[in-house]
Amino acid sequence: MAKLSLRDLEVRGKRVLVRVDFNVPTEVRGQKTHITDDTRIRESLPTINYLREHGAKTILMSHFGRPKGKPVEKYSLRPIGDYLHTLIHQPVIFSHDTVGEVPQKIIEHMQEGDVALLENLRFQPGEEANDSNFAKALASFCDLYVNDAFGAAHRAHASTVGITKFVNQSAMGFLMEKELKHLRDGLENPAKPFLVILGGAKVSDKIGVLKALMEKADVILIGGAMANTFLKAQGIPVGASKVESDKLDLARELLETAKKRGVKFLVPIDAVEADEVRAGANMRNTSRLSQQHGITDGWRAVDIGAATIALYQEEIATAETILWNGPLGVFEIPEFGEGTIAIAEALAQSGATTIIGGGDSVTAVKQAGLAGKMTFISTGGGASLELLEGKELPGVAALSDGK
Ligand code: 3PG
Repeated sequence: MAKLSLRDLEVRGKRVLVRVDFNVPTEVRGQKTHITDDTRIRESLPTINYLREHGAKTILMSHFGRPKGKPVEKYSLRPIGDYLHTLIHQPVIFSHDTVGEVPQKIIEHMQEGDVALLENLRFQPGEEANDSNFAKALASFCDLYVNDAFGAAHRAHASTVGITKFVNQSAMGFLMEKELKHLRDGLENPAKPFLVILGGAKVSDKIGVLKALMEKADVILIGGAMANTFLKAQGIPVGASKVESDKLDLARELLETAKKRGVKFLVPIDAVEADEVRAGANMRNTSRLSQQHGITDGWRAVDIGAATIALYQEEIATAETILWNGPLGVFEIPEFGEGTIAIAEALAQSGATTIIGGGDSVTAVKQAGLAGKMTFISTGGGASLELLEGKELPGVAALSDGK
């Protein structure tokens, strides 16, 4: 069932409480907190600006970090409110309490078009406990509730789920809608060939996604440390590389399922191996990987090799829809990031619909300066993975049904 959209609400003069995901990466330099990636804040602007332009009193709320139910200064949202001020060219009224008299007074005095921000929801134990008293206290601030926090939609917390019981109307914001459109609806019947690239550290993190996508994908390309588990499962020596020894049977099972379904399931045919996982380590491209020639004893696979890049580029060039989640090597160390960057470039040049499904692959695409070349980049990490697994997100399920 489609959910109610912000577009369906009468917001003029109303107090609209908006759950956003302002959980952004920051760095403290000197005394100041600097936002190192403001994408989540910028992506919330269509919702915030719509509300301002339509005369709503906009009250924003978010979590930031994991302060575990008590105030922790470094997780205050105040610097993020200050930053938002510079983006919307309008003061953001900051409430240094999340609930209680302080925000109540602020909200009473708000005018149409004003924007306020409550202090970090996770300073309160009731948030993650999905406590109904805390949810009720939040709900008392508003006439309407909007959830635009796609990145937190997999969490059943007071501000994402509990609150919906105490408000008359709860709707999706524009970012939430956009994420669902691309990651859920767009991938329901993707234009074919549908190619999926999965990387990252662990097979165990991606089992659900692999199983769900095996039903739809024509081609699956594997990279990252999880590739080692697939290589070892096929009897290819992996040296001192990271392997999930308890997932070898599962890897074999997945390879078997792919074969039965006619899914082209490719794992690296060569690798960049290094004697240590650090910048400046000795490194070299292996020859073709086989049961006889694997990763050298004591060395580790740190990236996909040149032959694998060429093979994956060929597949990418013929795909119509591409979904990418997870880097193909240890890309935080630039020497080991070539494979990941080459794949980002191949996607940018492909002409296919390209969906970057959250997490580290998003960082890689941005580092490569290719974000503008992709069809869609998700702001969700865990939330996008759960959605791709075909799970219903509690923060979406709880919203009012649409027309
Ligand atoms: C994220 O960064 O993935 C979301 O903001 C959720 O944060 P959490 O994993 O701390 O719930």
